[in-house]
Amino acid sequence: MSIRLGDLAPDFEAQSTQGAIKLHEFLGDGWGVLFSHPRDFTPVCTTELGRVSKLKPEFEKRGVKVLGLSVDPLEDHHRWAGDIEETQGAALNFPLLADPERKIATLYDMIHPNANDTFTVRSVFVIGPDKKVKLTITYPASTGRNFDELLRVIDSLQLTAKFSVATPVDWKDGEDVIVVPSVSDEDAQKKFPKGFKKVKPYLRITPQPNR
Ligand code: BEZ
Repeated sequence: MSIRLGDLAPDFEAQSTQGAIKLHEFLGDGWGVLFSHPRDFTPVCTTELGRVSKLKPEFEKRGVKVLGLSVDPLEDHHRWAGDIEETQGAALNFPLLADPERKIATLYDMIHPNANDTFTVRSVFVIGPDKKVKLTITYPASTGRNFDELLRVIDSLQLTAKFSVATPVDWKDGEDVIVVPSVSDEDAQKKFPKGFKKVKPYLRITPQPNR
């Protein structure tokens, strides 16, 4: 069954390159990213795992734990980690789940049979501290993901979870945001002491509240 925004992220227990992991216990009270890639020892995946390893401090700064997954066995993950370090200049520094029986891949609908009936596509799930799914993205095997974009979205998710704002197109942390339509002008004046600009009754812009 597919997983939709707002659904509880299904819990599971699996082996990873950093030992056994129970998803909900692993995430604790923090945020998480669970992402699948098609296969070990493949070129695009190698670049992706190197990039995520380099970005780990950025995920940590945001209180986000990262978990990768493929349907290859743990022994392959460990052997492949050497190649990632050698070719990408970064050692694999987050857990990579082994899912040879495709239990998690099935639970999270990561295998799209009309794309490939054996391997996982490039799925991404961002999970909030309430263990609910906040974002899903799916890329095909042929296209490596942009993990800077993932960090940008996490910034938006974390901001909009705290304040009555939404973030406009191409927004980046520190830029002006939008007052959500459900807040009246009167309440907006109280909630946003820096003020807001009313471009249209439905389009009100305010400086990022936590800056
Ligand atoms: C890759 O990671 O390079 C890849 C994996 C599966 C199909 C195509 C490319």
